Amino acid sequence: MRRTLVVGNWKMHGSFADNADLLAAISSQATRFPEVESAVCAPFPYLAQVRELLAGTPVKWGAQNSSEHVAGAYTGEVSPAMLREFGCHYVIVGHSERRTLHHETDALVGAKAVAVLSNGMTPIVCVGETLDEREAGHTAQVVTRQLDAIIAALGADALARVVIAYEPIWAIGTGRSASPEQAQAVHALIRQRLAGVDAGLADDIRILYGGSLKPGNAGALFAQPDIDGGLVGGASLVAADFVAIIMAGQSAQSA
Ligand code: 13P
Repeated sequence: MRRTLVVGNWKMHGSFADNADLLAAISSQATRFPEVESAVCAPFPYLAQVRELLAGTPVKWGAQNSSEHVAGAYTGEVSPAMLREFGCHYVIVGHSERRTLHHETDALVGAKAVAVLSNGMTPIVCVGETLDEREAGHTAQVVTRQLDAIIAALGADALARVVIAYEPIWAIGTGRSASPEQAQAVHALIRQRLAGVDAGLADDIRILYGGSLKPGNAGALFAQPDIDGGLVGGASLVAADFVAIIMAGQSAQSA
C-alpha cells in the first residue's frame, strides 16, 4: 500500500512571524495522523527557520525549485547540494508556474529532477494541462509528453524514487478543483504509462493531485485508487485547512 503524502507548497508567501505560528500548529497536529506523510515546501529564505521548527517533528520540509547545476557561475540560482545541506527531503520540480513564467522546458525539468535525486532528495515532478489543452481534448497528449521527458531523463531505477504531481493548470488557485473522476482518469493514465517502464515501479510510485485542494474536496479525491495524496497551495497556508487535508489522507489510508 502506498503511504499517503500531503505536501504544502507555500509558493511566494510567508513571514517569520506567520511561519512560526503555522509550523507550530501543523507540527503539533501532524502526530495525530501517523499513517500520512506530510511536508511543507517553503521559499528559500525560510528554509533555516523551517528546519529549526520542524526538526524532531514528523513533518518534513523541502524547496520549490532547484538549479540543475551543483555549483558555478549561476547568479541567483540555488544548488541542490545547498538544499540538501538544509536537510530538504523534497524539491518541487517543473511546477506549472515555473514552466509558464520562467519558460522551463520538459528537458530542463528532467535535468532538475536528475540533479535533485543525485543530491539525495526526492523530486516532486509536476505535470498538467492548461484549460485550452483540456478543452481541445489534448490532456492525455500533454501529460504524456511531460511524463515521457521525465522517464527519458531518469530511467527506471531513478524513476522509482520520484513523486509525480498532477496539477491541472485550470484548477490551480481558481477554486475549481478537478472532479475526483477527472483527476482519477489522468492519474490512471500516468500510472499506466509508468507501468510501461516497469509494472512494480508503477505500483509503488506516489501520484499526488494538486489544484484547489481543500478540506471539502480532499476526501473524495484521496478515495480514488490512483490518487496518493496532494500538493496543496492556498490551503497549506491555513493551519486548520492543511491539517484537515492531512486528516482526509489518514481516512483514505485506513479505508
Ligand atoms: P492551489 O491549492 O492554491 O490551487 O495551488 C495548487 C498548487 O499549485 C500547488 O503546487
